[in-house]
Amino acid sequence: MTANKKLQQWVDEVAALCRPDRVQWCDGSQREADELCALMVRNGTFTPIPARPGSFWCRSNPGDVARVEDRTFICSTSKDDAGPTNNWCDPVEMKTKLRGLFQGAMRGRTLYVIPFSMGPIGSPIAHIGVELTDSPYVAVNMRIMTRMGAQVLEALGGGGAFVPCLHSVGMPLVAGQPDVAWPCNPDHKYIVHFPEERAIWSFGSGYGGNALLGKKCFSLRIASIMARDGGWLAEHMLILGLTNPQGRKIYVAAAFPSACGKTNLAMLTPTIPGWKAECVGDDIAWMKFGADGRLHAINPEAGFFGVAPGTSLHSNPNAMQTLTRNSIFTNVAFDAARGDVWWEDMTDQPPARLTSWLGEEWTPGGGKKAAHPNARYTAPAAQCPVIDPAWQDPEGVPISAILFGGRRPTTVPLVFEALSWQHGTFLGAQQSSETTAAQAGAVGVARRDPMAMLPFCGYHMGDYFAHWLKIGATPGVKLPKIFYVNWFRKSADGRWLWPGFGENARVLKWIFERCAGTGRAVPTAIGWLPTSDALDVSGLHVPPADVAELLSVDQAKWLAEIPAIREHFAKFGARLPQGLADELDALEIRLKL
Ligand code: GTP
Ligand code: SPV
Ligand code: MN
Repeated sequence: MTANKKLQQWVDEVAALCRPDRVQWCDGSQREADELCALMVRNGTFTPIPARPGSFWCRSNPGDVARVEDRTFICSTSKDDAGPTNNWCDPVEMKTKLRGLFQGAMRGRTLYVIPFSMGPIGSPIAHIGVELTDSPYVAVNMRIMTRMGAQVLEALGGGGAFVPCLHSVGMPLVAGQPDVAWPCNPDHKYIVHFPEERAIWSFGSGYGGNALLGKKCFSLRIASIMARDGGWLAEHMLILGLTNPQGRKIYVAAAFPSACGKTNLAMLTPTIPGWKAECVGDDIAWMKFGADGRLHAINPEAGFFGVAPGTSLHSNPNAMQTLTRNSIFTNVAFDAARGDVWWEDMTDQPPARLTSWLGEEWTPGGGKKAAHPNARYTAPAAQCPVIDPAWQDPEGVPISAILFGGRRPTTVPLVFEALSWQHGTFLGAQQSSETTAAQAGAVGVARRDPMAMLPFCGYHMGDYFAHWLKIGATPGVKLPKIFYVNWFRKSADGRWLWPGFGENARVLKWIFERCAGTGRAVPTAIGWLPTSDALDVSGLHVPPADVAELLSVDQAKWLAEIPAIREHFAKFGARLPQGLADELDALEIRLKL
């Protein structure tokens, strides 16, 4: 099936261990996808959505709805290399345990061989992986999320390198046992990374980043290690192009934690006249220095795996357009009367009756959500009406600004600019946000999520900070400016102070102007803030007092952050770079002036 002996040998080994009934090499064709979807309709996994051609509704097992961070492991030889933010287990011990679990795990199922490229095939920034899975759901999602199939095998050739990604839902079928719509193994979930051999083994979950292994497992956890070793960056960032009314264009990358607004910013419709935003990617950026000394970013993915609840023609019309066809909707609700899917806030008025994500009859006002808060759509990026013309450029797009941010109801202003690359790295390293439904566990709990990579950095976070500083010290390069934003400030009575979404273009405009050297700013203890007249508020329906609050620095609140940041940094021990300790001291001194 392939000229690549290493791949063939690995497939044979996995088949001997997992004992699937058959092995299917995926070619990525439409016909193959149609057959897999038809199979899942027969199995009860998929329901066709009449209102959306080529689209399907899918409900997961209620115990398998999000990434499981407590079941995610970095199995480096030395525990120290995984660092204080990752679960660690000895690789030999973990392999022994996993071999036991994978033994016979695919009985009664098909093993799908999925060759995929993260990034345009042949791009100097792209890398190839192969996922072996017993889930047809994973196969059709990977076809949307990556470049998948025969061309990848061709590019791999006889001797090409690939990241092996092994996945099983962990529910073998013994003779005659009927299958279920969403097979998984809620009691034995393992999302495991072996950094030294750059391999991924995932068992027991079929959902999102747990199972679509090209995404978080490869493009962030394994790729962050490849990037450290190769002098580049693999980040949890959206990429967007921003054009001013005079036709000048820059590209911006932004790292916000899961379910904190990357997709929405990546596709925003600017509310200010003459400005245009275009989307390169909504979740992951791989960035390398180009010959021009600038950081060039590619989106390694080919699709969006986006949060459905909250997505509407009002909040994100471009996402809504992207989703009209060839899309998969997991854990949303179904409206049989309209033959369409529905989720919270998709329309102002909910339909009179629905089938909820749990498969139950649902009527408005019952107090239960119709869609799971982490319900997601899988849709081809090429269908996005504002996809950037350069989104598949193998050389990537040059990045002028990097944004950090998160959900902070208090303290953090709407926007401010770092004083330097080192200060910007400090801002990313102390980044904090409230947790969301994207990961299993409590929602709304504040936590430090450095560079939005807390669950995704494949090695010691202290070394990762050092890598950021090293990137900034590369001789002869032209670095992006770094900014910090917060769309999520609340008033004392709990209102959003900032309308967000398309109005975020006003903040992007100031960032553009700062990059162009024209934006006005005042120095403060925490960094550069827009002067009172620098943020374009024309036509904005926000009381001036709210804008003033959004753009103020509360010294006392920031001083109260210092011990919390110190405690956070202490976790990294001797591996915390001196430069970041210096930035914290300097911030404290400036706040006390
Ligand atoms: P992942 O795919 O999990 O990495 O998330 P993401 O960062 O792409 O998050 P997404 O854009 O899907 O946003 C998730 C949630 O944030 C949705 O509920 C949105 O409604 C909300 N959100 C996004 N942008 C804004 C904003 O500007 N203001 C407010 N208040 N909410 C926002
Ligand atoms: C995230 O949680 O940041 C996501 C969704 O983008 S998942 O692919 O499930 O990780
Ligand atoms: Mn994400």
